[in-house]
Amino acid sequence: MCGIIGYVGKRDAAEILINGLSQLEYRGYDSAGLVTLSTDGLHIRRAVGRVRQLQQLVTEKPVPGTIGVAHTRWATHGRPSEMNAHPHLDAQGRIAIVHNGIIENHATIREFLEQQGIEFQSETDTESLAQLIGFLYSQTGDLLGSVRRALHDVQGTFGLVVVSLDAPQTLIAARRGSPLIVGIGDGEYVISSDASAIITHTSQVAYLDDNEIVTIDPSGMHVATIDAMPVDKRVHTLEMRLEQIELAGYEHHMLKEIFEQPETLQNAMRGRLNLRTNEVVLAGLQQLERDLPRCRRVLLFGCGTAWHAALVGEYLIEELARIPTDVDYASELRYRNPIVEEGTLAIAISQSGETADTLAALREVKTKGATALGVVNVVGSTIAREAQAGVYLHVGPEIGVASTKAFTAQVAVLSMLAVYLGRRRHLSNERTESMLRELEQIPAKVRAALGVHDQVRDLARQLAEWDNWLYLGRGVNYPLALEGALKLKEISYIHAEGLPAAEMKHGPIAMIDPGMPVVVIAPRDNTYGKILSNIEEVRSREGRVFAIATEPDRELERLCEEVVYVPATSAMLSPLVTSVPLQLLAYETAIVRGHDVDKPRNLAKSVTVE
Ligand code: F6R
Repeated sequence: MCGIIGYVGKRDAAEILINGLSQLEYRGYDSAGLVTLSTDGLHIRRAVGRVRQLQQLVTEKPVPGTIGVAHTRWATHGRPSEMNAHPHLDAQGRIAIVHNGIIENHATIREFLEQQGIEFQSETDTESLAQLIGFLYSQTGDLLGSVRRALHDVQGTFGLVVVSLDAPQTLIAARRGSPLIVGIGDGEYVISSDASAIITHTSQVAYLDDNEIVTIDPSGMHVATIDAMPVDKRVHTLEMRLEQIELAGYEHHMLKEIFEQPETLQNAMRGRLNLRTNEVVLAGLQQLERDLPRCRRVLLFGCGTAWHAALVGEYLIEELARIPTDVDYASELRYRNPIVEEGTLAIAISQSGETADTLAALREVKTKGATALGVVNVVGSTIAREAQAGVYLHVGPEIGVASTKAFTAQVAVLSMLAVYLGRRRHLSNERTESMLRELEQIPAKVRAALGVHDQVRDLARQLAEWDNWLYLGRGVNYPLALEGALKLKEISYIHAEGLPAAEMKHGPIAMIDPGMPVVVIAPRDNTYGKILSNIEEVRSREGRVFAIATEPDRELERLCEEVVYVPATSAMLSPLVTSVPLQLLAYETAIVRGHDVDKPRNLAKSVTVE
């Protein structure tokens, strides 16, 4: 989704801004723009398409200055076009802003300003904010005061950076519902919506909170609330390392992240499995250690892939901890007036920690009295900070838009949480020990599963021509069928549906024909016999079946056109291993179809609007 980078210091701003935008590309966008300030005025360039197109414009016509802001736009109000790209200006052309989020009352503001004779240049909601700040400034001559006043008047969400020709060494930034981080360098500041654009310059950062406004000028950085109450900001050290956001010889971030999984799973479990005392140690939950086992109900929520991880979590927590568990889409939960009884443990699952719906759902369940946890990857993200306690994934930055390593780590964390809760309730010593031993072996099994890459690449070449696919799974692998289908849709633009295998005969079976590949996840668990029957049903209708299985089996091989084998593990943990061929299949199919895997059309990495 939209990305922001701003710079003030002694160096050439344009280069820093363009490089920063390149780091933000993975978030998804359709146009880009920047503005720098110099004694000659504001220098603006905007381009539809990629950052390299903007870079071309800047090379042809350089933009001088040591202060500026830049933006990648993911269209919400108004099509992707040069005029709609940020920055947007006030009517005098002296103030420029870049903005993430949505100004919900933009139409009212626009109507009011048009009545005052102001002409709008774009179709965006952002311009109403730029024009409103400019209008207030024209009446008061107080820039910071005008920004404050405008932010009081707007409804909606914003991560916003403002520059003005009348304060040529000042950046003003504010946030409500859309993240902003200030990087503090040596005599310079970099402000961004995403730490990955800051880490090249500094690891010292301050996270803005909602309704805070920061002014950066030659006297330093000053943070206050939008109501002008001073705020003392803590400076944090980013844990991210530069090499984590580089390709390291891989063709795409997604492939790199798939292959990182043995290591990221190891990191997600490091120090958390104690085989000596036979327990799971989750330091982030220490403060709630007494209350958690007493919870009466678990509510898991998230969006997209995180929601699929939540579905796996439901099986795990019910089976191992015997606590009734519900799963909801965050976007539905927040508007459903959810029933939160005493003893509800609500868990928000989010890679980015910034997804607007997940954050809003977290706030809703907190207000209703739930104990609210976060299972989050990005350290210091809003969900991580607003949850009462939580467990980090520790997989490093996930740059690939299609989530892979975060998904497996979410499942690993939920597995550990299930054992953690279970051990404090009904889970036997023996079962705990066997789960811990199995978990410990997962990284090695995932490494072995990556060995199917060549086979899956060949399979993708056979299957890529088909436009409709079906994924089937049962039990804990039913969410994997959903996840496999989502991965394929996201980067191959092939229509795919995931189903619990037995549901197929209640309708979708009508679609089975030789033109629709059916991918079946069939590990040897207590539903194996049933899934063989489901495969027979597909075969009887001339369906073509491709299976992912754990143990060589003649019968399965007879029924399927191809079987991809991955190492066997405990049934409850099998999604950690069966994910691998599904991720590779989506990746390789997208490659055969010639798509840019890391920049899939229409998608954003972090969905910060509802
Ligand atoms: C799928 C994908 C999305 C995200 C979803 C939630 O590959 O990446 O479906 O899982 O937008 O994002 P987070 O986990 O950041 O809240």
